[in-house]
Amino acid sequence: MAGEAEQLRAYLEYFRDLGVYDLYRRGEPVYELEVFSAAPQLAEVVSAEPSRAVVQKTELPPAAETVSKPTPPSISLRREFSEPEISKLVSFDNLAPLPEVRLSPAEKPAALEAIREDIGDCTRCPLAYAGRHKIVFADGDPNARLMFVGEGPGADEDIQGLPFVGKAGQLLNNMINAMGLKREQVYIANIVKCRPPGNRVPEPVEANTCTQFLLRQVDIVQPEVIVALGSTAATYLLGAKQSLSGLRGRWHGCRGAKLAVTYHPAFLLRDPRQKGEAWKDLQMVMKELGLKPPAKG
Ligand code: URA
Repeated sequence: MAGEAEQLRAYLEYFRDLGVYDLYRRGEPVYELEVFSAAPQLAEVVSAEPSRAVVQKTELPPAAETVSKPTPPSISLRREFSEPEISKLVSFDNLAPLPEVRLSPAEKPAALEAIREDIGDCTRCPLAYAGRHKIVFADGDPNARLMFVGEGPGADEDIQGLPFVGKAGQLLNNMINAMGLKREQVYIANIVKCRPPGNRVPEPVEANTCTQFLLRQVDIVQPEVIVALGSTAATYLLGAKQSLSGLRGRWHGCRGAKLAVTYHPAFLLRDPRQKGEAWKDLQMVMKELGLKPPAKG
């Protein structure tokens, strides 16, 4: 049974990586957790938005007399984010005007550090309360010509506070090296900076709350090329939910950079047959940046 569940989960993740969501999720998410207690018949609906917790109490209809045991009342912890735009999909280009100034190379590290300070010990979205250990800001060169954007930290990243340091990170390092670069020469970040529990896909409210910081990072680094790793990165950077096959193999635009979409390294670990396809995507990037693979030796 456990094996079957694992296999089913692997299939779902496989389709998710290809940008096929609707197999397992319909409509917008509802953040709802039902808790039962032995208190009198009263339902509490708690709006758990961190900054504005509201408790509404609603009388439930009386239990039918024929029921021998009293029905436990339900307490529903419902996280409602009232800003309508928080669940909307907006491309990075439409989120804010492009910056008018370009920072000098020497100014960029401090500008990035200022963003990290703004984030602080963030409690802006539910991921702050979902078992996070460390906020994963980014890694790499503030003056990089090439930026990679993933989905969100996994278990290793959550412990170390750095993006792509687990198994998927090792594969990403190999991909970077195959392009003739070192990891320290690129800039690596994620759509969300806190680990989604169980490595699930970030919910729209989480991604939309967090991407304001990624957008500022992109505007400071101002890479020439951005590579969206997998469907979640492509969805939020481009503001459109499309299958990866429809997005790969051509250039998109993002904050003045050229944006390419490729498979997420975790997907490539699950389906290594797709590595050749990912290599084609990376070759398109190498051509744009004038990179040559390292000489074999
Ligand atoms: N997967 C991601 O999308 N990002 C990481 O940092 C690690 C794994």
